[in-house]
Order: sequence, then C-alpha cells, then structure tokens
Amino acid sequence: MTTYAITGVTGHLGRLVVGELLARGVPATDVVGLARSPEMAADLGGAVRRADYADAASLDPALEGVDVLLLVSGSELGQRVAQHTAVIKAATAAGVRRVAYTSIANADGNAGPLTPEHKPTEEALRASGLPFTILRDNWYLENYTGQLPQYLAQGEVRGLNGDARIGAATRADMAGAIAAALLDDGTVGATFELSGPPITLAGLAATITAVTGTTVVYRNVTAEELTAALRGSGLDEGTAGFVVALEESVARGDLDAPSDDLPRLLGRPATTLEQALRAALA
Ligand SMILES: NC(=O)c1ccc[n+]([C@@H]2O[C@H](COP(=O)([O-])OP(=O)(O)OC[C@H]3O[C@@H](n4cnc5c(N)ncnc54)[C@H](OP(=O)(O)O)[C@@H]3O)[C@@H](O)[C@H]2O)c1
Repeated sequence: MTTYAITGVTGHLGRLVVGELLARGVPATDVVGLARSPEMAADLGGAVRRADYADAASLDPALEGVDVLLLVSGSELGQRVAQHTAVIKAATAAGVRRVAYTSIANADGNAGPLTPEHKPTEEALRASGLPFTILRDNWYLENYTGQLPQYLAQGEVRGLNGDARIGAATRADMAGAIAAALLDDGTVGATFELSGPPITLAGLAATITAVTGTTVVYRNVTAEELTAALRGSGLDEGTAGFVVALEESVARGDLDAPSDDLPRLLGRPATTLEQALRAALA
C-alpha cells in the first residue's frame, strides 16, 4: 500500500490530481489531501489534513505515514522558496519516500519573473537527498481560454510578440500526467517538461475566429502600451509591472519548451487549443 498526499487541494490543480489518482484506481483511503484550510476541501471525499507551508508545526503531522508527496507550488509570491523548503524539510523528517514538485517550464533557461522561486525549489529538492520527480508545468491553456469573453468583446488579442511559441496545456492534462508520474516509481530522478502543442498569440486570435465565427485579430503592443492598459484597468504599478514582465518572458520564447513528456505520461495526445476553446464555449 502506498499513501499519496497532494498539497493545494483547495486549488484547481491539486484537486484535479486527486481526481486523476482515484480515476487510475488508487483507493480513496490511500489518498490524503493537504490544505491550509481543510474545511474548504470538505467536498473532496477522503481525508484532508491541515498543512500550511508557512506553518512548520502543521507539516509534521500532515505528512505522517505519507509515502509519495506532490508539492504543488504555492501562490504567495516572494514567500515560496522558504515555504517550499519547509515542506521538503518536513518530508525528509517524516520519512516520505518521494517528493514531486510542480515547477515552471524551461526552468534552466526561463528568465521570467517566476523562475527565481521555482529554480531554487528544484535545487532544494535535489539537494535534499530525497527521491524526487520534477514536473515543469507550462502555462495553463486556461490562462487564455478564461479570457475568451474579453477577446470576443474587444475583437483582439494583445501581446508583445504574436509569433512566440508557448507550450500551454490544460490543467486537466497536466493533472493526468502528474498523477501518472506519481504512480510510476520509474520517474524517480526525472525532470519532465509538461508542455502542450505550442501555440502563439497570433494563432490564438486566428483559432478564436475560426471556432466562434467572430473576427478576433492579434495586435502587437509595446511594453509601455501594455503597462498603460493594465494601469487603466485598475492594476497597481507593481502588479502591472509583474504582468508585463511575464508577457516579456512569453515574448522572448521562455515558454517554448518542446517535449513529448506530457503525451507520453498521459498515454494520449494533449488537448489542443481548438479543443480547449470549443470546451470553453460549450
Ligand atoms: N502554469 C500556470 O499557468 C500557472 C498559473 C497560475 C499559477 N500557477 C502555479 O501553479 C500552482 C497550482 O495552480 P492552481 O491553478 O491550482 O492554483 P490555485 O487554484 O491558485 O491553487 C493554489 C493552491 O496552493 C495553495 N497554497 C497557497 N499557499 C499555500 C500555503 N502557504 N500553504 C498551503 N497551501 C497553499 C492554495 O491554498 P488556498 O486555497 O488556501 O489559497 C491553493 O490550494 C499555483 O499555486 C502556482 O504556483 C501556474
């Protein structure tokens, strides 16, 4: 019997991974959900224990008896290296047999603003001596399909480079691949790039047009224009600057991480942009 623990089960990805483990035949009694507010995950079924990355005292009891842990990267920017390192330390102390971590695409060559938290977490995991699996998640396709109403209302997709390739994939596909990796001890020591079929922002506009019948064009803007638009929509200076830095990273091609790891782990082709847009419309 192997006990799997998944952090962040109040979030989108953690919840999906639990569902994928159950769908792959893992008994619910062998899956433990970890959440900083367990009451928010009461509908998950199965056990949910409190684990707050920022509260070391919560981590030791949460990880008791856990064999394989998925550490879903946290959402508190600037805090995450310390938080993730605390979880890795607690996993070592608890005798967890393997820790898997959701990192960022192309972590070795990605100069974007998120890498300075993901890369040190990867390094801490490698240095821990624990058997590990690193799952470098590319952009979620939902980052784009979730904006479909705005794209249609504005008639355009704005970006800094319409031709930059982005290996976006749906959260559901990533969750399926992550569950497969958790279940396969052969993935110990591996680093996977979970990238879907590459998209571009110009291609996004064209595919929205094809799928909806409403013309949406791609419009290139400068970083200054994007900053002004974000500020105009109410974002504070720091947040707007962060979003622009992310878009500059996308424009450089930091998220172009060609790999067949995602379909290989999934055992099927990844969901395409067109399929994801059709699902978002349905
Ligand atoms: N690849 C991408 O495009 C992309 C986009 C956004 C985020 N991400 C990263 O991928 C992760 C998972 O994505 P998602 O869509 O599932 O994000 P999400 O829905 O925001 O879920 C994040 C999860 O992390 C938990 N968390 C945050 N800080 C925590 C802490 N101190 N202790 C314990 N749990 C904590 C949250 O708990 P609460 O419910 O209590 O807040 C939540 O369950 C995100 O956290 C982020 O690091 C990736």
